[in-house]
Amino acid sequence: MRAVAFHDFGKAPALSDLPVPEPGAGEVLVRVGASSLNGFDLGAMGGFLKGVYEYEFPVVVGKDFAGTVAAVGEGVSDLAVGEAVFGVVMRPTLGQGAFAEYVAVNAAYGVARIPEGLDATRAGALGLAGTAALNAVDAVSPAPGETVLISGATGGVGAFAVQLAAARGARVIATAEPGAEAAFVTALGAAHTVDRTGLAARVREIAPGGVHAAVHLAGDGPTVSGLVADGGRFTSTVHFAPRDAGARGVKATTIMSDPAPEALARLAADVVAGRLRVPIARGYALPEVAQAITDFTDGTLGKLAVTV
Ligand SMILES: NC(=O)c1ccc[n+]([C@@H]2O[C@H](COP(=O)([O-])OP(=O)(O)OC[C@H]3O[C@@H](n4cnc5c(N)ncnc54)[C@H](OP(=O)(O)O)[C@@H]3O)[C@@H](O)[C@H]2O)c1
Repeated sequence: MRAVAFHDFGKAPALSDLPVPEPGAGEVLVRVGASSLNGFDLGAMGGFLKGVYEYEFPVVVGKDFAGTVAAVGEGVSDLAVGEAVFGVVMRPTLGQGAFAEYVAVNAAYGVARIPEGLDATRAGALGLAGTAALNAVDAVSPAPGETVLISGATGGVGAFAVQLAAARGARVIATAEPGAEAAFVTALGAAHTVDRTGLAARVREIAPGGVHAAVHLAGDGPTVSGLVADGGRFTSTVHFAPRDAGARGVKATTIMSDPAPEALARLAADVVAGRLRVPIARGYALPEVAQAITDFTDGTLGKLAVTV
């Protein structure tokens, strides 16, 4: 099968010919139709996840997947061949990935059916960033009218987080440069935009006493957490934990994306109902993944989709 894989640490991912994986017990083999890039993929390619995961080379890139069940492993009864599914590749090691014609995934976790009305391209860009955003917004649980600062709002997770927080009635303050970035997050529901330079002063103009909650996806952790009012909530997807949280009565959490089937189904239902947009900036075919990686690194608005 065709797959984009890297064959050792320090090697660039390249289009490769690899054997089709076999689904193990409790797994389904998915014929992949679409995927997307995430920060995780860059971390994996850069070798930064060495202490966290075992690398089994060749390592195929790609966490998000959408496709069709091609085969089921022993003991799988909930999913059947031919069903359209999407989700996040949640394997214990780094080896198989979704930038490939086939990937074997856990049938009970990280996968959900694609509902009527959701196409594979959008489903393939929803899993990891969508669940991270959902987990982050749930963690700070904004009430209607509360101010929520989202730092890193222009990225994949941020684009979903802005929408999910705004849908709960929060007044979202989103980091974005004036121009295209500001227009992008405003269209997603941000009430205010703040430039990443001079962030603190600008946020203080909007919320002089500090924000009720902050979602930290990028930027300087202490600056972002310092803008939360005493007694407020702060969450980070980049493992930043503010040291003064306890003293200030700030509830601080760090997020590990949890792509439970219920969370994936909830996101998919929101997309079908028109409550959640999957903002895809650009699509790439499998042989164009090197360009997608360059574009992702250079900075994009929302998601970069990959068609397999
Ligand atoms: N813990 C988990 O389970 C989990 C799950 C998903 C994601 N993550 C992490 O969460 C982060 C966001 O993920 P993502 O997929 O959304 O990445 P992404 O698409 O690269 O988004 C990051 C966004 O933040 C912007 N940004 C960079 N520096 C900034 C700053 N100083 N102030 C404000 N915005 C800034 C970037 O803009 P420019 O590109 O223009 O600089 C980009 O738009 C990544 O670090 C990712 O690894 C963690």
